[in-house]
Amino acid sequence: MLGLIGVFVVIQLFRIEKVEYKEPTSSGILSYEKPSIEVTKLLEETCLNCHSNQIDYPWYSEVAPISWWIADHIEEGREHLNLSEWAQYSNAKKEHKAEESWEEIEEKEMPLESYTYMHSEADLTAEQREILIEYFKNLQAKYKTSS
Ligand code: HEC
Repeated sequence: MLGLIGVFVVIQLFRIEKVEYKEPTSSGILSYEKPSIEVTKLLEETCLNCHSNQIDYPWYSEVAPISWWIADHIEEGREHLNLSEWAQYSNAKKEHKAEESWEEIEEKEMPLESYTYMHSEADLTAEQREILIEYFKNLQAKYKTSS
């Protein structure tokens, strides 16, 4: 038991590197695409906490080994899609990312299930899922015609 506690204490020394918080800019999907209030709220509550420059770290992100796991999700998530840099993506990339987004939501891959355990507001109802799928499908169509 003491050994376990010792390990737990020692791993706390390995801190995660947090993503630097940057104020939202005009490049972010919310300013650039101006989705409805409803969609804005859904994106904020279910996607932006991993796919943006505005990460709100929960208290348990201070506690190893959970912290490592959370840091991994955020790093990987932002590599695939950073909605704060939406305007900088080419039209072709916007189309592709919009398509991936609705597919991920439809397949219930996104938001990550582990995220919804602790963030019940991100546990989408069927209706909310439909709203986001519809939104990303329209976004995909928008960039299909203009690319
Ligand atoms: C807890 C963090 C987290 C949340 C919340 C989250 N994602 Fe992700 N997302 C990830 C990670 C990690 C990956 C990369 C690994 C994977 O695909 O599972 C990813 C990958 C993706 C990809 C790329 C898939 C691919 O095939 O490359 C898209 C698109 C995406 N997410 C969209 C969304 C959308 C839309 C939401 C909100 C409905 C969302 N994500 C919510 C962490 C998250």
